[in-house]
Order: sequence, then structure tokens, then C-alpha cells
Amino acid sequence: RGAGEVRIVEVGPRDGLQNEKTSIPLPVKLELIRRLSGTGVRNIEAGSFVAPKWVPQMANSAEVLNDLLGYPPLAPVPIAYNFLVPNLKGMHNFLNAVESSASERGSAPITSPENPNAPPTPPPSPPPEKGETGEQAPITSTEDPNEMPSSTSGVNDSVQPGQSSMGSNNMEVSLFTAATEAFSKTNTNCSIAESLERCKPIVSLAKSRDIRVRGYVSVALGCPYEGPDVDPHKVAEITATLLEMGADEVSVADTTGMGTAPKTQELLKALFAAGIAPKDLALHFHDTYGQALVNAVVGLEHGIRTFDSSVGGLGGCPYSKGATGNVATEDLVHCLHSLGGHTGIDMEKMAEIGAWISKELGRPNDSRAGKAILAR
Ligand code: HMG
Ligand code: MG
Repeated sequence: RGAGEVRIVEVGPRDGLQNEKTSIPLPVKLELIRRLSGTGVRNIEAGSFVAPKWVPQMANSAEVLNDLLGYPPLAPVPIAYNFLVPNLKGMHNFLNAVESSASERGSAPITSPENPNAPPTPPPSPPPEKGETGEQAPITSTEDPNEMPSSTSGVNDSVQPGQSSMGSNNMEVSLFTAATEAFSKTNTNCSIAESLERCKPIVSLAKSRDIRVRGYVSVALGCPYEGPDVDPHKVAEITATLLEMGADEVSVADTTGMGTAPKTQELLKALFAAGIAPKDLALHFHDTYGQALVNAVVGLEHGIRTFDSSVGGLGGCPYSKGATGNVATEDLVHCLHSLGGHTGIDMEKMAEIGAWISKELGRPNDSRAGKAILAR
């Protein structure tokens, strides 16, 4: 009996690129996403609407979004592109980018197409030729980025639930909080409780626009400030809160790569004991200690079918010193396919992208499987 359908969320363009020291030219970023869009992967995390002074590499996320909205449909199914939003200001910047991109193209709101989060189907046709990149979207500013604005002008008020102004592909948002106070403070300058409070109006706004919401719980298996022993019940409590709030799924993240097989098992047991179903969870492993694949297999054995990974093993976290990239997509997919899993991903194409982007960034290709495939 194989692992069946497994969903990969490719986070390289966000989690991977956010940590690069040197500035990444926008065309390279767009080319990365465009190439990934032709591999069969159905979920791509493409950017984040965070404060640019905190994470300068993500400052051009509105331009990225604008470019993605110009993609023609990638047959046979659309791709879900995801953007991180840390607060209401980020959510408004996201919505403004969607709205201004749509009006620039004169496209009317359309009914949301097929669900990109359904199990994968055969790989889509190759990525389209490069389209136009528009101007950066105007930013609606509110006094306090976490206060609900009195008016949502600039945001697409005309879109009703069940409709989407997202063009042919779907745009989604991710919220993020953490399992330790020290990490929450460093990453988002607020306590865990405050970050959960910040999430509430974002989820409401997203739901009113029929936008799918993902939540993240960072440092679930070890914290750079509070150490390796993070309370799994605390992780479960925060995860449950995000789901109760309306998040469609929660990605539980081993930010530091301190997770091991027994710790992953213990964490999953705590999550299930709190009443959380495997279908509502994703696992997000960084590979700092080389345990990400083992931990992913533990997740698979416990019924998890959504995993985050990054092509070429790109990445790290700006607020987790020494943390290396996410598990490489090529390595994870190779492992999942060996276990009878179906990801819909073309391994050769993914391996070529891993080699290409590593060269572009002047860094080693951190995917073992990717290098081996290309050496055959
Ligand atoms: P803050 O400094 O407390 O914010 O940051 P503030 O409300 O005091 O505002 C300060 C300034 O930032 C103001 O501008 C705001 O307008 C502006 P100024 O008046 O000084 O000119 N500002 C913004 N600008 C653009 N977009 C926004 C925004 N919000 C405020 N959304 C804040 C709080 C949350 C904004 C900040 O801490 C932040 O951006 N943090 C994001 C950190 C981040 O991106 N971390 C990496 C992503 S999470 C991750 O990698 C983990 C993950 O991979 C899972 C895992 O592995 O663990 C997901
Ligand atoms: Mg991460």
C-alpha cells in the first residue's frame, strides 16, 4: 500500500529567498516562480507582505503578485500562490496588489476555479512565455497596522464570497505565529497572544473575500532562544486556536531543524490528542541537522499528506541563526515517490530548477537527489 496523494507546498521563492544576503533581481525571482509553475507542483509560496525593513528580499512581493496574475491558466488546473501576511497592513497590501493588478488588466472578478488544494493530477503544460510586469501596487496605509481600518477603499469590495478576482490562478495568504514567546517577539515583535489576536481580523477579511488561509506555528520542535524542549501541548493549543479561528490548514514548522523522529512523533500525538485531524495539518521541516526526511516519513506514517519544501534546499530563517534551508523539494519528492506517493511533480524539471537557481544565487545546490539526477 503506497502513500497515495501527497501535496507539496513549494516555499523556495519565499522561505528560500527571504534569507539570501545578496539582493535578488526581480526577473530572477519571477523566472524561478515561472519555472516552478511548470513542474506540476500545485502550491507555491511566492512572497510576503511584511515590513521591508525587516525582510528586504520580500519588498517586491506586490510586483511578484502582479506578474503571477498575468499568467494564463496552466492547464489542466490552476496553481495556488501563497503570500505571508504578518498583520492587517500586510493583508491590505496584499488585497491592494490583487485589486490593482486586476484593474490594470481590466479583468472582471471571476468565479474561483478548481480547487488547487485537491490531490494532484498529471503535470500541467510548460510555463507560459514571459508576460508583462506591472507597476507596484498602491499601498493603503492605516494608522496602526493591526487595527481594522474604518474604510477598505482600494480593496476589492465588489468580490463576494464564492467569487475571486484572482484571475486564472488562486492567491492565498499565510499567517504566522510561534510556539515560544522569545521567537514570537523576535520574529513579529509581539507576544504569542498578541499575534493570535492579530490573526483574527485577517482571517475574517480573507474569509469575506473567499481567500484560503494557511497558518504557521514556528519553532514547534526547538527554539533558537528557548532551546530544544518546546512543549508539544503548547504547539497543539496554538494550532487548534488557528483552526478554530478559520484557518484552512496549519503548517507546523521545525524552524531550527532540531526535530528528531521521536520528537516529531510526540508532537503529532499531542496534536491528534487535541482533536486536530491530519488533513488540517502540514509539516514544514528545515534540514539543519539532516533530520528533515526522517521526520517527514514519521509524518507520513501518521497520516500527514501535506509537506513544505524548497527547491535546491534554499533558505533559512532571518530570525533563527544558523538555521539552514527547508528540506529540498527534490529530496522529499524522491523519498515520497519511493514510498508510493503521488505528488504530480516532474523530478527532472525540479532538479534542473534547483541547479539553475543555486547557480544564479552563487550558492551550493543543497539537494542530494537533484544533483544525482542531473549527473545520470
Ligand atoms: P513592528 O516594527 O513591530 O511594526 O513590526 P509596527 O507596527 O511598529 O510598524 C513599524 C513600521 O513597519 C511602520 O513603518 C509600519 O508602517 C511598517 P514606519 O512608520 O516605521 O515607516 N509596517 C509594515 N510595512 C509593510 N508591510 C507590513 C507592515 N507592518 C508594519 N505588513 C511586523 C511588526 C510584524 C510588521 C514585523 O515584525 C515583520 O514584518 N515581521 C515579519 C518577519 C518575517 O517576515 N519573518 C520571516 C517569515 S516567518 C518564517 O520564515 C517562518 C516560516 O518559514 C515557518 C518556520 O520555518 O518557522 C513561515
Ligand atoms: Mg521556514
